Order: sequence, then structure tokens, then C-alpha cells
Amino acid sequence: MKKVLITRRISDNAVNLIKEAGYEVTVYAESKDLTQQQLIEMCEGHCGLLSVGPNQLDANFFKSCPQIKAVALMSVGYDKVDIAAATKFDVPISNTPDVLNEATADIAFLLMLSVARKTFYMHKTIERGEWTFFDPLKNLGQEIYGKTLGVFGLGRIGFEMAKKAKYAYGMNIIYHNRNKNAKAEKQLKAQYVSFDELLEQSDVLSVHANLSDETKGIFNRSAFEKMRPNAIFINAARGAIHNENDLIKALQDQTIWGAGLDVTNPEPMKKDNPLLQMENVCVLPHIGSATEETREKMAIMAAENVVAALKGEQMPQIIDPGFYLDK
Ligand code: DGY
Repeated sequence: MKKVLITRRISDNAVNLIKEAGYEVTVYAESKDLTQQQLIEMCEGHCGLLSVGPNQLDANFFKSCPQIKAVALMSVGYDKVDIAAATKFDVPISNTPDVLNEATADIAFLLMLSVARKTFYMHKTIERGEWTFFDPLKNLGQEIYGKTLGVFGLGRIGFEMAKKAKYAYGMNIIYHNRNKNAKAEKQLKAQYVSFDELLEQSDVLSVHANLSDETKGIFNRSAFEKMRPNAIFINAARGAIHNENDLIKALQDQTIWGAGLDVTNPEPMKKDNPLLQMENVCVLPHIGSATEETREKMAIMAAENVVAALKGEQMPQIIDPGFYLDK
């Protein structure tokens, strides 16, 4: 059995790479997420899985699919995968780090500017025929030059966001992380602060952390209450890191000034969500890595990972660093 299942249409180059390595490929091409049971059934007869989209890969999945010998995710985030369970069932899991750093940071940066100048809302006013005459006291945003950017999770994507903010807008960078980031401190003069200090001192607070038990819902009412009234909240990481109801409330009562979201909770966001009507809010449909160049690199990387593992080699982007120890 030499078959790999891919759970979305991806670049032909990536599919061909798997075929040229000697594997048959099944592509699930419907525009509808699979339930876990459907995925388990589709995995029958396959030894590899290239998982794209929100597939829940937990102990039940690995137990139900003993024939799956390798899983390559086409994402940097792996919050839908129980890595410990995968290791227990002897399945290596890889992700696609680094290749999406710039594209994802671009979206965070774009959201920062868009919110500060209310651009999405302004576009809608033109569509509604509300661009009538010039009023110097209307449509006013805020400047971000020289202000403070707080980065929650200053890893590789957070670093790219901080770099743009520092070099393009002379922003002062503060950050909160599990570990200090020496490179950011040296190159960007970034300053490590506590979580509360990050909330209190950021004019723009941009989230780039992984979703974990530690970060789930951490931006809640009490966090928003510690933020500045002029603060802009940006999330281009995972929607579950902020509590959406608390964010809506914080914006409605002007506890904070605005928000830019590339990720929501749930996804997709419903079209009647009140955030979509707010002047100081910009929402995008999780397109952080969505450029032709980046998606091509992610697909190729995922294909290379699944092929490597199926051939008995080490996966280049293995997530669990301990996986190959003692083997
Ligand atoms: C990622 O790579 O994790 C992006 O958010 C797409 O899911």
C-alpha cells in the first residue's frame, strides 16, 4: 500500500513530488471540511496523510488509522494535533515553519495600518454612497509612527512583524514570551516585559503565539481592561487566543480603540458578527500565508516531509524533537 491522502487541492508541483517518489495520491477536493470519522474512513488504504485544514488528529484518530505511518501538516500551527498521542502511536508529524513568516507578518502589519485608518469601513461608506463632501473632522484615524508595538509571542513571525514596525514606523518594540528573544533584543532593541506590562504599555498589541492551554482565551475581559483606550488589538495567530465576546464588549464600550483579526473563533466567522459593522475593526478570512509563493513553498515542504518519513528517513520539519531519539 503506497498511497498518500491530501485533504485539499494543493499545488501540482507538490502532488507530483509525491507521485514521483512512487506513491499514489488521493486528493479530497470538496469545499467542505471532513469530520474526523470521514477522515478516518478516507485514510483507509493510505500510508501517508498530508493534512490541510482543521483536521482533528487526536489519540482516537491515530488509534483508528494504524496504517498511517506519517502525517505532514501544511501549516505552521499544529494546535489540532495531539503530538504526544502521535508519538505514542509512532507517527511522526511535521509542519511548515519559516516559509510563511513574511507573508503572515505582512497581514498583521496590513491589519495594523488598516485599523488605524479605518480602511475597511471607509470602503464600505463609499459603497453605501456616503462619500458626499469633505469634512475635516470626519473619518479620522490615528497615527502609529513612533508608538509602542507589543508583541505577544515573539517567535519567527512576531520577529518579522516587529522588524517592519521598527524600520518602517520607528516603533518602540516590547514583547512577552515564554523565553527571551536575544536576536530581537539586539537587532530591534526589543524589550521583554511581563504580560501585564505588555497590556498596559502597548499602543498596538499583536498576537503571534501558538494556541496552547496557556494561551487559550488569554485575551479576555480582564486583559482588555488593562489595555490603553487608544490600543489596537491584532490577532494573526489563532482565534481562540482571544475571547471574541469579550473583545466585542471591549470595543463597544471603548475600553480599547480597535481590532484587526485574521483569525476568529469560530472560523469561518458568521456574516452577522457585530465586529463586521464596527468602524475601527478589520477582519480577514485567515489569509496570513495566502500568497502564491508562500502556499507553493508550504505545499512542497509538506510533500517533502511526508515522502521522507514514508521512505524511513527523518522528517526535516518534525515537530516533536524527541521523536527520533532512542530509535
Ligand atoms: C498556519 O500555517 O498555521 C496558518 O495559520 C494556516 O493555518
